[in-house]
Amino acid sequence: MSRTRVLTGITTTGTPHLGNYVGAIRPAIAASADPNVDAFFFLADYHALIKCDEPARIQSSRVQIAATWLAAGLDPERVHFYRQSDIPEIPELTWLLTCVTGKGMMNRAHAYKAATDANEAAGEDADAGVTMGLFSYPVLMAADILMFNAHKVPVGRDQVQHIEMARDIGARFNHLFGQGRSFFTLPEAVIEESVATLPGLDGRKMSKSYDNTIPLFEGGAKALKDAVARVVTDSRLPGEPKDPEGNALALIFDAFARADEAAAYRADLRAGLGWGEAKQRLVARIERDVAPMRERYQAYMADPQRLEDILQAGAARARAIAAPLLAELREAVGLRRFADVATRAAGMKVEREALPQVKQYREADGQFYFKLLSAEGQLLLQSEGYPSPKEAGQALLRLRQCSGSELVEALAGRVSEAERERIAVAFGQLQAAEAERKARASAG
Ligand code: TRP
Repeated sequence: MSRTRVLTGITTTGTPHLGNYVGAIRPAIAASADPNVDAFFFLADYHALIKCDEPARIQSSRVQIAATWLAAGLDPERVHFYRQSDIPEIPELTWLLTCVTGKGMMNRAHAYKAATDANEAAGEDADAGVTMGLFSYPVLMAADILMFNAHKVPVGRDQVQHIEMARDIGARFNHLFGQGRSFFTLPEAVIEESVATLPGLDGRKMSKSYDNTIPLFEGGAKALKDAVARVVTDSRLPGEPKDPEGNALALIFDAFARADEAAAYRADLRAGLGWGEAKQRLVARIERDVAPMRERYQAYMADPQRLEDILQAGAARARAIAAPLLAELREAVGLRRFADVATRAAGMKVEREALPQVKQYREADGQFYFKLLSAEGQLLLQSEGYPSPKEAGQALLRLRQCSGSELVEALAGRVSEAERERIAVAFGQLQAAEAERKARASAG
């Protein structure tokens, strides 16, 4: 049974706050623990460039967001965790999709329309200040999703239109170039109704754009405490009963506490708990969950090379999936090797670019082995001995058919992370070559 592919992107602008944790990070990580889910969580840093032209902010936000997700419990061995900008197949797919996307549909995209409406209301040219990045935003997002054939895409309500556009674009590409088969799975948006939206300092939804956020890790426990101290309350004194319904402190407390703890907090407010003490109790409750994660966060922030290694390994696994599909798509649209056209016509053998190789052989000990060599002939993986060629062949096939994450599992403990990455890329190249060969065969 194949697992449900769940994919979501995190735009790397800003610093994660409590609302991001409760509304996105925590539920996504919980969902990724389901054994039936194959999760893809990535840093949408190409998308970030659309909104921000300050390199230093782009960089610090990427690092902080990577450290936050890992500190919050994302397991990079199980989840495909990568930076969009490490996957060159994504911008390449973006172009293939751009060429089948109707401009009229893009004209109707909410984010673009909001910009042109605001310009018109201000008496400006409709497109004043609008970049092609903003205009094409939904196509890049479609490429993010279609590249990995995601089934489900958890997003906020404001993103639903983008998922519908991804379906539309994917269906159009399938129809134009699929010759009866579907390259792309058509994704579905998933809106988590049950997930809390936290109120911010002023009682409105916690959001960077309202400047009313409570930081998650940055600034330490002190920043959390200082922010909670600024949550707006009324002038009721200690001893006076307070209505917890719709109260920001109570709502934030709910998002962290068990039902019985939350009920006690609310009862105490009704019985006259002072706002000052209510804030202290809220901070203490949040800290119970957040303090251990914050420690891990600080350890990651102090060791950016470790973050880099984790994301590079994630990119290698993601590319092992993306590259074979992109090879098929290039074939499908007609971006094929010239040599193949001539040799196909002449019935000649096509000269191949050097590929990694797998070899099966028998050793003097009578056992059967296989090994994987890079295109340059360097040994990447050496199997253990098997009593029969059939068993050696089956073990090899199991590895070759592994997805990136399964490969990581299969090789865990046997080879280093850097080697694993090279092995994943080599198997990916072999899969890509195989896909190309099949595509060519079916194209006659
Ligand atoms: N546009 C999304 C947002 O702002 C982020 C994003 C980029 C995304 N690519 C994606 C979300 C792909 C889901 C799938 O929230």
